[in-house]
Parts: sequence; C-alpha cells; structure tokens
Amino acid sequence: MNDKINLLKNKRQKALAGGGEARIESQHKKGKLTARERLHFLMDEGSFQEIGMMVTHRSTDFGMETEKYAGDGVVTGYGTVNGRLVYVFSQDFTVFGGSLSETHAEKICKIMDLAIKNGAPVVGLNDSGGARIQEGVVSLGGYADIFYRNTMASGVVPQISAIMGPCAGGAVYSPAITDFILMVEHTSYMFVTGPNVVKTVTHEIVTSEELGGANTHASKSGVTHFACTNEIEAINHVKKLLSYMPQNCEDKAPALPYESANELRPELNSILPEASLQPYDVREIISHLIDSESFLEVHKDFAENIVVGFARLAGRSIGIVANQPAFLAGVLDRHASTKAARFVRFCDSFNIPLLVIEDVPGFLPGTDQEWNAIITNGAKLLYAFCEATVPRVTVITRKAYGGAYDVMNSKHIGADMNFAWPSAEIAVMGAKGAAEIIFKREISGAEDPEGKWREKEKLYADTFANPYRAAERGFIDEVIEPAETRLKLILAFKMLENKVVNHPRKKHGNIPL
Ligand code: HXC
Repeated sequence: MNDKINLLKNKRQKALAGGGEARIESQHKKGKLTARERLHFLMDEGSFQEIGMMVTHRSTDFGMETEKYAGDGVVTGYGTVNGRLVYVFSQDFTVFGGSLSETHAEKICKIMDLAIKNGAPVVGLNDSGGARIQEGVVSLGGYADIFYRNTMASGVVPQISAIMGPCAGGAVYSPAITDFILMVEHTSYMFVTGPNVVKTVTHEIVTSEELGGANTHASKSGVTHFACTNEIEAINHVKKLLSYMPQNCEDKAPALPYESANELRPELNSILPEASLQPYDVREIISHLIDSESFLEVHKDFAENIVVGFARLAGRSIGIVANQPAFLAGVLDRHASTKAARFVRFCDSFNIPLLVIEDVPGFLPGTDQEWNAIITNGAKLLYAFCEATVPRVTVITRKAYGGAYDVMNSKHIGADMNFAWPSAEIAVMGAKGAAEIIFKREISGAEDPEGKWREKEKLYADTFANPYRAAERGFIDEVIEPAETRLKLILAFKMLENKVVNHPRKKHGNIPL
C-alpha cells in the first residue's frame, strides 16, 4: 500500500505543477496568477475539492501522444465561498495555453451538470488561448457542449465568468451567456477575432487593449459588467456578487441580521436641486435609502444614464434600477434600456426584489437612436418589467414623462407599490413642449406669442407637474415625504415577501431581441 500511496502522491504532485516552473514564472511575469493560486484566493480555506485531476487529452496528432499534463489545462471542482457551495473551473494557461481540448471541455461540463442537479452557482476563471488547435473539430464540439450547458443552467443557477487572460474566438460566447462577466485591466482580452485578423479583413490597426480590453468592454460595448484593476480585486468582486444571490432559482438570497434604527432620513427632504432641470447624482439618494455601504454597482461605466446594482435593505438583498439625472438627464436610450433589462431579468430569475428610483425625461430622440432600434431595445426593458414576478416597488422622485413613465415599473405593468415624492411630475411630456403642441394656434395668434407660450406652459405644469393626478387614479399608491422613503420601502418589501404570481402557461415568451 505504501508504494501505491507514494505513486498517488507523485501523480498529484505532477498535476499540481501544471505546465512546469518556467511557464509558471512566465505567467507571473505577465502579472497573472496561476489557476490554482486564483482558486486559493476565491475559495474558503481548505474547502476546495478537485474533480478530474488525472484527466489527460486523447489527442494523437502532431506528436501530442507524448505531451500530456494531468488535468489537461483546467482545474475543476467544488468548495465553498463564504460558507456556501460553489462549483468552479479555473483554466491553466501554463498547459497548452489553457486551450480547450475535448477532455478539458468534458471536465467543465461535468461540474456544470453537478451544479444544475445540485442547485449551486458556477464560477468560471477563464484564461485560455481558445480551441486546442491540435484537436480540430472535437475541440469545437467541446465548446458547443459548454454553450449548451450554459444555456440550460441560465435562470437555474447563477453563472459568473471572470476573464483573467485571453478569451478569443468562439470562447467568448460561453461567458457571454453567463449572468456576469468580470475582466482584469491590461491582462485580459475578449474578442471574436484578434487584432491581426482585424487588420487583414478590415485594414483597421488596433491594439488588443483597444479592441477587447477590460475598459473597452466596460464602457463601449457593455460586454463586461466589471473592469477590475487586478486579479485579486476581480476575485473579491466575484465573492461579493455571490453574497447578494441565492444558490438557485428555488432559493432566496441570504439575509444579513438587521436591527431597525434610524429609518427616517430628513436629509432626503432637501436632496433634490431647486430647479427641476438641474442634474444630481442619484447614487446620493440610493445611499440614503439602503443599508450603509451595501451598494454593489453593476455595469458602472456603461450607459451611465441608468444606474443598476445590488444592495441590502434591512439586511435583505434587492436589485436597484435608477435613472441617473447626472448623465444625459437620465434619459432612456438603447444602451440604458438593454442594460437595465438584463439586470431586471437576472433579479427576476433569482428572486431578488426590485426597487426602481425614477426621474426620467423620456426616451432619447434622434436618428442614432431610431436607426439603432431604440424601439426594439426600449421594448426589452418594458418586456422585462412586465414579465418580472418578484416584489416590485417604484419611487418617482421627479420626472416621469411619456412612455418612460409606463416602462419604469409603473403600476400598469405589474409593480406592487408605487410611491411618489411631492416633487414628482407625471405627464405625457414636459410642460414647454406640451404647451407648444396643444396651444399652437393660440400661441401663434397671440400678440405676444412668447408670453402666451409661458402662460400655457404654466397652465400645463400646474395641471400635471405633480403626483396628485396619478394618485387620484390610484396609479400612485402613496405620495410620501422623501424623509419617509426608507421606512416605506422596508415596510413595503416586508409586506411583499411572500408574493406569488402565476403567468399564463406558455413554452417561453418571445422577448424582442
Ligand atoms: C494549443 C495553444 C493555443 C491553442 C496557445 N497555445 N494557444 N496550444 N491551442 N489554441 C500554447 C502555445 O503553443 C504555447 O505553448 C502556450 O500555449 C502559450 O502561448 P504563447 O503564444 O506563448 O503565449 P502568449 O504570447 O501569451 O499568447 C497567448 C495567445 C496566443 C494570444 C492566446 O497563444 C494565441 O494567439 N493563441 C492562439 C489563439 C487562437 O487563435 N485560438 C483559436 C481561436 S478559435 P508552449 O508549449 O510554448 O508553452 C476558437 C474557436 C472556438 O477558439 C469556437 C467555438 C465555437
């Protein structure tokens, strides 16, 4: 037995060495951790249990039969993060550049199958040169097996992808199907084709960083939800994200212990600027409403006219969608709509109640928006809210104009509690534009058209630039003093805790994509 145990130890030792000292050193020189070091920082100490450590590839072409590494370029298994079960794979760039072989894919599929059956999140730490070039089509098949499982797992268990190195070709599509992507600045890239192919096909000269680096995807494309300055920050973000989520779609997110205190926030009574056109940062309102320091903003640098993220309210996890008057006056455009729609759908998939803070002048007009399908994209957000069955509460702080009033979690599309501050303006459009249209003849026929216009603008504003017309109809459940908002939200979400909604039976809806 001793000899046999020594053989096992020897094999384990070899597997732990990955692609060898020189390649590990080269990985470190690039400012990157190894696959196992990343797992060390992610998982609770001593909790990681490896599955498939001895797996090797089956390839025989190009002399591959003599070049085998135990594990085949990916470390897979399970363990706990902050005491909760998580399945994980971590690609090892020191073995064939972390490239995906048939067996490498099988290992990932195995833990995904376990995650779906046992109802726990999957975290992928990606660092890979893409399809294992020596294997050809079996490698492509391996990717497709993963994509299929990503799709089957979607909405069943949370899936998080941290991109810690290159991620090229079809390999980007597995992360893209998962719920959240995190990238590391300057060491991770995502693109369908790299700079060399781009140069050949389009004659564009672009660096990897510009084409598909963390900041590009965080601000321009919105492909990544987080751009992190280093790998440790990315790993800590993964842990924090997990803390707001349940383990699966049948579960509720864990709540932190909370003792009620200081629920009235008088500072909110003076938080809005004097003039209704003046911008302010909605994050300030958010910080007065939620438990202190609990906001985790998602997609911070993309479509900044809408703010989305997780927070805690009286210890419980909530998702927040808020118009941001500090950026483009908080207007809804195509990017803001898709950003918020995806977030709403995540929260709804995983039983995370939704809070909407509304101050929106409407949808952004113009050819850029129309030609890039603001109609279809705006409809995504509308559809996402209509479909959501989690507890849903809205607070209108200032403007709720036009179609945006309907879209932003209005009563009519299924919100449960709709509050408005006394400063709310709920109307088809702003008073100036409205007066110009409905009093056009009177204004143009007046001796002093400017003066007439101002008079009619005031008339329209006096009639509609308040929350009371909507409250009279019951579209607003209660007009509240801003200082009371946190208390009202805590009570409303508590009241909605056991909400159940059954939609008509269907295979699945057809969200306007
Ligand atoms: C096999 C690979 C590999 C691959 C890298 N390696 N990519 N082995 N298949 N796809 C190996 C290298 O031979 C090298 O082995 C080691 O990994 C490190 O690679 P380097 O090139 O030395 O590293 P670096 O300079 O950091 O460059 C990393 C890289 C580059 C940018 C990822 O290796 C690269 O461009 N690789 C090819 C990327 C690619 O075209 N992949 C296919 C995409 S198409 P040694 O022995 O020297 O350590 C695709 C289709 C999927 O993925 C479709 C799904 C639908």
